[in-house]
Amino acid sequence: MQQPLTPAEIVLELDKYIIGQKDAKRMVAIALRNRWRRQQVPEHLRDEIAPKNIIMIGPTGVGKTEIARRLARLAQSPFLKIEASKFTEVGYVGRDVESMIRDLTELAVSMVRNEEMETVKVRAEEIAEEKLLDILLPPKRTTPEVREHPFPVEGQALIAAKEEADQADTTREKLRKLLRIGALDDRYVELDVPDRNIPMIEIFAGAGMEEMDYNLRDMLGSMLPRRTKRRKVKIPEAREILIQEESQRLIDMDKVIKLAIERTEHSGIIFLDEIDKIAGREAGGRGPDVSREGVQRDLLPIVEGSTVTTKYGMVKTDHILFIASGAFHIAKPSDLIPELQGRFPIRVELTSLSKEDFIRILKEPENALIVQYKSLLETEEVQLTFEEDAIDELAEVAYQVNSRTENIGARRLHTIMEKLLSDVSFNAPDMKGQTVHIDREYVRKILNEIVKDEDLSRYIL
Ligand SMILES: Nc1ncnc2c1ncn2[C@@H]1O[C@H](COP(=O)(O)OP(=O)(O)OP(=O)(O)O)[C@@H](O)[C@H]1O
Ligand SMILES: [Mg+2]
Repeated sequence: MQQPLTPAEIVLELDKYIIGQKDAKRMVAIALRNRWRRQQVPEHLRDEIAPKNIIMIGPTGVGKTEIARRLARLAQSPFLKIEASKFTEVGYVGRDVESMIRDLTELAVSMVRNEEMETVKVRAEEIAEEKLLDILLPPKRTTPEVREHPFPVEGQALIAAKEEADQADTTREKLRKLLRIGALDDRYVELDVPDRNIPMIEIFAGAGMEEMDYNLRDMLGSMLPRRTKRRKVKIPEAREILIQEESQRLIDMDKVIKLAIERTEHSGIIFLDEIDKIAGREAGGRGPDVSREGVQRDLLPIVEGSTVTTKYGMVKTDHILFIASGAFHIAKPSDLIPELQGRFPIRVELTSLSKEDFIRILKEPENALIVQYKSLLETEEVQLTFEEDAIDELAEVAYQVNSRTENIGARRLHTIMEKLLSDVSFNAPDMKGQTVHIDREYVRKILNEIVKDEDLSRYIL
């Protein structure tokens, strides 16, 4: 496995996409690294080290979800991001909280399976090549067995048969060469491919199938006959299909599952987004609140450590790391039930974004908005150039509107950019070859009216 990233490296990676929020980045980086550290500790101690779950608190649109998304790519461990608001209390229609452990396990299984497939890849490729050759040149009398024990032929006949076999062998080798250099890539072969049978699950979907016992679901799946279909495919595709098939045959699923469960238990991370949406204890007996507290109660044992049955076996949740996040705009962390608050000892606050942050967000991230719009319009052969003062003005507008109406953080930049470029976006197909210079004047011309009028900006920006 790859050397895990150090906290500094993790922060550096996150920096490519998220501006500011240094504390939050550091905290999640440490948490991620701690997963690995724990693995290195002697076993008797390892079980004692409980993960320190984190709550990230911060206004809307300042990068909480973004941090999670980017972290997911960095974590070389099973990482599941899920909205807490998706869950309903056990017994109600919807997802119960245990499903996240099942999902995490599922992720780990496919992760380990992919790794295993990688290790058998060379072998699978070899077998696939032989199979392809068999298809191209059906091995009639050319198999070694036949050659070793030829049916009773004598004299001339025997020599002829041997020659024929040798001939076929060299033909096979010739074909192999052609195959390898890709000279046969345009040829079609017939292949039995698994038919994409209409999963029963889909038919029932919507009827609370989510909730349906996974064992039952599995059973339904295996009850359906595995059909194969004969298809004509080009050689490169055939090779892919055969490699897939062979790798699946070569890997030991029992081992994969064992490893996957281990990995889920010891390095799994669950990112519980929008946790504030299940906060609130007032209940009142009506509406969605009825089950909010219930969801929190259901969460408790999982966060604290319990055993969840998955279709791969029992999974202990004691050492799974939970990172929760929420705006806590209306509800406060203290509105979570106390037991749950206690399970998240580390709190990090994300700060509101300043005008300077907006300037950097517009320019710096690898996926910065300006970069996005530029490349979108490039497809229409329209060039966009942004002057520094235009970016400054945009950030200023975003900041102003945020502070005068509602603070929606960096999302404001999206609405503003969309408004700013709506004319260009609309007319771009007729503007081939043109360059649009955007400077402070341009920004003011388009946005000033709206910004000045508070009511207007409420609706438009
Ligand atoms: N600090 C930041 N640096 C760069 N981009 C940011 C930053 N904060 C937010 N963004 C951008 O703003 C958008 C919204 O951010 P994000 O989804 O992370 O908000 P959030 O904090 O999860 O808000 P909410 O509480 O509403 O879920 C994303 O497109 C993200 O790329
Ligand atoms: Mg979010």
